[in-house]
Amino acid sequence: MPLVCVCSPKGGVGKTTLTANLAYALARSGTKVLVIDFDVQNALRLHFGVPVTDGRGFVAESATSADWSQFILKAGSNTFVLPYGEVEEAQREAFEQRLAQDPGFLARGLNTVLNYPGLVILADFPPGPSAALKAMKALADLHVVVMLADTASLSLLPQIESHRLIGAPLNNRHGQHVVVNQIDMRRTLSRDVTQFLEQRLGDRLLGTVHRDECVPEANASQRAIMDFSPVSAAAFDIELISKKIAALLDIKVGDGEFQPAITPTPY
Ligand SMILES: Nc1ncnc2c1ncn2[C@@H]1O[C@H](COP(=O)(O)OP(=O)(O)O)[C@@H](O)[C@H]1O
Ligand SMILES: [Mg+2]
Repeated sequence: MPLVCVCSPKGGVGKTTLTANLAYALARSGTKVLVIDFDVQNALRLHFGVPVTDGRGFVAESATSADWSQFILKAGSNTFVLPYGEVEEAQREAFEQRLAQDPGFLARGLNTVLNYPGLVILADFPPGPSAALKAMKALADLHVVVMLADTASLSLLPQIESHRLIGAPLNNRHGQHVVVNQIDMRRTLSRDVTQFLEQRLGDRLLGTVHRDECVPEANASQRAIMDFSPVSAAAFDIELISKKIAALLDIKVGDGEFQPAITPTPY
């Protein structure tokens, strides 16, 4: 169960978009992928055809249900979504509190999915440090930190490099890797920041994604960028990053034999 956390000190940088499109890319190569939304915005599901009116999710009943896999929705033959769900403020607070105070809470709730051999899990987080990101630290194989090619992201680089995103080193097998999103090589600043990050991060730079209008358009039509605009620069970039993640985590692609015994809720 390779588990990838997609996080960032900043909001609006493309975490949710990247999580969704990486899931699509990995699923297309034959891998079963589950995406989990840890952001109260509950937006990840919207990339997978789940209607905006569908408020189902795992957080509201996380305290009383022993196995959160019952809240998984099937989005495609290889794609599964575990939405955060629509919650009351008190439910959100209770969830955060349990995450912070009960070290086994996450591992118990996710036990079924964590133990499916070959199931790749991509988890999307709210910006900045969060109880969920901290709790997930022990379970994660890889942290993908999303940045923009701008000065605001650059100013946060020391914070990322000193692992202050979650207040402790990310001591997973592969550490943290960075994706620089929305690069635009026609703009001097974007080009300079991208080049600086390439030199500074070296192998830790997992890849860059071009700024491309077809990305929000693909989001709006709830489709993968590689389906919506297969020849776009962003589709190419995301495909490449998905291949790097597959190689890093030794994900076996094209294993059609694997059938997770999750019973997804139809919608
Ligand atoms: N490569 C890109 N090119 C153009 N727009 C992008 C790109 N990546 C993300 N976006 C847009 O940026 C906005 C924020 O993305 P989102 O994934 O919601 O960020 P986050 O999850 O970090 O808050 C969305 O409107 C999304 O469509
Ligand atoms: Mg988001």
